Amino acid sequence: MNMGMSSEEIKSKAARVVMNTYGRYDLALAGGRGALVYDPEGREYLDFVAGLAVASLGHAHEGVAVAVARQARTLVHVSNLYFTEPMVRVAERLVDNSFADRVFFCNSGGEANEAAIKLARKYSHDRYGAGRYRILSMEHSFHGRTMATLSATAQTKIHKGFEPLVDGFGYLPWGDPEALDRAMTEDVCAVMIEPIQGEGGVNEPPAGFLERAAESCRSRDILLIFDEVQVGLGRTGELFAYENFGVEPDIMTLAKALANGLPMGACLARETVAEHFGPGTHATTFGGTPLVSAAALVVLDVMLAPGFLDQVRRVGAYFKTLLQKLAGRHDFIRQVRGRGLILALQLDFPGGGAVKALMDRGFLVNCTQDTVLRFLPPLIITEAEVDRLMPVLEEVLVAEAEALED
Ligand SMILES: Cc1ncc(COP(=O)(O)O)c(C=O)c1O
Repeated sequence: MNMGMSSEEIKSKAARVVMNTYGRYDLALAGGRGALVYDPEGREYLDFVAGLAVASLGHAHEGVAVAVARQARTLVHVSNLYFTEPMVRVAERLVDNSFADRVFFCNSGGEANEAAIKLARKYSHDRYGAGRYRILSMEHSFHGRTMATLSATAQTKIHKGFEPLVDGFGYLPWGDPEALDRAMTEDVCAVMIEPIQGEGGVNEPPAGFLERAAESCRSRDILLIFDEVQVGLGRTGELFAYENFGVEPDIMTLAKALANGLPMGACLARETVAEHFGPGTHATTFGGTPLVSAAALVVLDVMLAPGFLDQVRRVGAYFKTLLQKLAGRHDFIRQVRGRGLILALQLDFPGGGAVKALMDRGFLVNCTQDTVLRFLPPLIITEAEVDRLMPVLEEVLVAEAEALED
């Protein structure tokens, strides 16, 4: 296959043959190494997006590349009708390092949340019979684009045009424990929460909210589901985001960083919950193939090695301090949010122009919810690389703010 297309060729062909579901930037990418990515002409970009919190070990990670190549020559896929060692080893790693006892593997965050939704309903149906099936989620949440997960996502812009939604979801204000308590009616089987909301704008939970939510669930045998698809796996400086808050869920979902870019999702649960999935209740052809599992084993090895999470916390704190100093110099930055290496600037103007200007200057940054600049660099990013971004970020934001005033 000829992999030598120019940027222009790639973009013009895409305009003809690829479904137009993404508002893509005017940029084609062809290679990467560490925190850098390259366009087909060799132009370099410092990546503060990491495939939206996916390439956490960095691009073209040597350990992942070697493990995947070796596994590709050994066994890529057999059906889940058979046992395979790489998958069992990943499951063991996740269980040994989390609240969970068992894991179901799938291919994406949406699919992991589908599994969580089905498991919660099955648990409740088995124990309490029909009618106790509603799942409550939080305003500004994002849980995926499948029919059930978009129905769980409390954002009308994501629902629009796809109605009728899947029945059995209810939405609550983010961070309001009283509203949560009031909504816990007899038909509720689970509450689904991102411990820190990602796509919704990097919203940390108000102090005590997750604890109160957990108590509220436990006292009624309502399951607490944490969607850690974006904030799990080292992103916050802990292996799992819930560790920051000392609150354990009953079910947790992972994806994005799990196999550093190979498609892999996981739904983890306590034994008393997981036992409600039996043979024939849930499945997916590609879940936990030897190939993606080989990549995930490297990811978990690296993240669990001494010092890795310390470095995420250290660089994250350094980056956040610089963002706070920047906010101190400019009123148009309303707030700095996040922890570890999921950080954000709440601007008082749309961030799309700044993203484009930063791209022109060789930096990839994301904008979410129109006015939030979100930083999700590879977790191996260094202080020196953060230092490279900061003066350009300031220049670009000042220019944007001035242009908007004119
Ligand atoms: C918190 C959260 N849940 C679920 C998803 C959906 O994951 P996927 O796109 O892999 O289906 C995302 C994706 O951004 C996410 O951030």
